[in-house]
Amino acid sequence: MTAARTISFTLNGLPVTADVKPHHNLVELLQNQFSLTGARETCGQGLCGCCTVIVNGKAVSGCLYLASFVEGAEVVTVESLDTPQKLHPVQEAFVETSAFQCGYCTPGFVLMTTQLLEQHPDPDDDQIKHYLTGNLCRCATYPQVIEAVKLAARKRKAG
Ligand code: FES
Ligand code: FES
Repeated sequence: MTAARTISFTLNGLPVTADVKPHHNLVELLQNQFSLTGARETCGQGLCGCCTVIVNGKAVSGCLYLASFVEGAEVVTVESLDTPQKLHPVQEAFVETSAFQCGYCTPGFVLMTTQLLEQHPDPDDDQIKHYLTGNLCRCATYPQVIEAVKLAARKRKAG
């Protein structure tokens, strides 16, 4: 049996350590050792975006990203966005536009939208579709997602 090794990294702004085995992926690490369930493994093939996590400022598929690779990295999950008192403006926008049905894909869309708005503060439809092309919604809420992104952009601009 392969031995686990201890890694250190920053998780949602806090320094943490974890024991990982070579075959563990990032979703397993977040769920099993930190009870963070926003990133979900669905397709397991890098195709659906449900497992999106930000590592060193870049979105990665947590299902394909080996846990040991986050040694020394800055890892950000969807759980970092809101507080018990207040949703993040992107989350508010998704709620206000009803941009989900079952909600399974929503954490991935929300996290990617925060990244999108960093790069394109006032995105048009094509930019939104292009940026979110790696996120799939089985409930087909895409029109509402586009509205949610535009509303989130307006909220962001308004401060
Ligand atoms: S579960 Fe990782 S991309 Fe689908
Ligand atoms: S809301 Fe159900 S998969 Fe997107």
